[in-house]
Amino acid sequence: MAEQLIESKEVLLRKIFEEINELVKRQKWLGDFNILLKALSIRDSYTEGHSHRVAIYSYLIGKEFGLDKEKLSRLYIGAFLHDIGKIGIPDAILLKPTSLTLAERKLVEKHPLLGYELLKDRQLPFILNIILKHHERLDGKGYPLGINHRKISFTVNIVSVADIFDALTTDRPYRKALSLEETFSIIEKDTGKAFYPEVVEAGIKVLKKAGVLDIFRGSLLTEDLEKFRKEAFFTDVITGLPAFSRWKEKVVAVQNENDIAYVAFDIKGLLLINLTRGWEKGDEILEDIGRELQESKMGSFCRFTGGTFLGIISRKWISRFREVLNTVSVKHRITIHEVILERKSVSSAEELVAILIKKLREKKRVSATSGGLEKLVRRRWR
Ligand SMILES: [Fe+2]
Ligand SMILES: [Fe+2]
Repeated sequence: MAEQLIESKEVLLRKIFEEINELVKRQKWLGDFNILLKALSIRDSYTEGHSHRVAIYSYLIGKEFGLDKEKLSRLYIGAFLHDIGKIGIPDAILLKPTSLTLAERKLVEKHPLLGYELLKDRQLPFILNIILKHHERLDGKGYPLGINHRKISFTVNIVSVADIFDALTTDRPYRKALSLEETFSIIEKDTGKAFYPEVVEAGIKVLKKAGVLDIFRGSLLTEDLEKFRKEAFFTDVITGLPAFSRWKEKVVAVQNENDIAYVAFDIKGLLLINLTRGWEKGDEILEDIGRELQESKMGSFCRFTGGTFLGIISRKWISRFREVLNTVSVKHRITIHEVILERKSVSSAEELVAILIKKLREKKRVSATSGGLEKLVRRRWR
């Protein structure tokens, strides 16, 4: 039964591709656009797959809607290029594996304008309309222009429905794909507000039949490259150590092992060092500590905040750990406070961090750091 379903989906896809090839083969300029889309996919393979799928869903809805061949071919190409403006969105936002901040979302919302800007010299109003208006809503609450139903055509709205259908039915780093039922219920709730009822009706009919098209997941090379780039989000830029969020996962993974020791250490007065010896010097110290810890291969470390580090090491490395800290202290003429917890069972990473930081504070108790800093600030403001 399952095999039959897969086979019938393959037959359906092959048929769709034949129809589309037949439809767009006379559009000679399509080649240039393919290159543009390839450029975007090299940066972000999700958008590559998304663009292909949205183009096919739009084509199917357009066909159900009874559009003629010329309009269908433009609809397909417009949908294929609808997110091309994302080529202008910085990697730090485009590839961010976690939810976006409000300011970042505002930047992403510029992609229809960027796409329009990129292609506005081509005399292709039908396609430009799709690129510019695919995030507009009938009630005027969309972006980037906030125009309402009077300026949104059925064809543009077809791409909007196909776009949300694909966005909701695919896995994203911050949430799993929704089921068809959940997706249709979200789309139906927005009927009359974001989407024309006629478009939703045609859309749900064909999308129920076609289901989720599991195609165009990006080439292996691109995915590899993207994996590497996304790792950057989980790495501390100065020390090269894993970010705290990644390190926390390790705490959970090793919490039942017997020969583990948890460590924390802090550079005394890092802020004062930055202010008196220069921020470059502060960064150099952090960078050096990160390198030493990685090269020593004693365990897993992260920079928690400022000059505070956390780590998990095997107990046999405790004296080696102290040696490394001592070497760095002497080299940079700094003081490092450290705490080591042996035979401690913790129920969560949060509990462990709270214990380590508390112990570290107790060790530092009289903060000569803030005293020194206050003196410096008073001197400067006098
Ligand atoms: Fe978009
Ligand atoms: Fe999109």
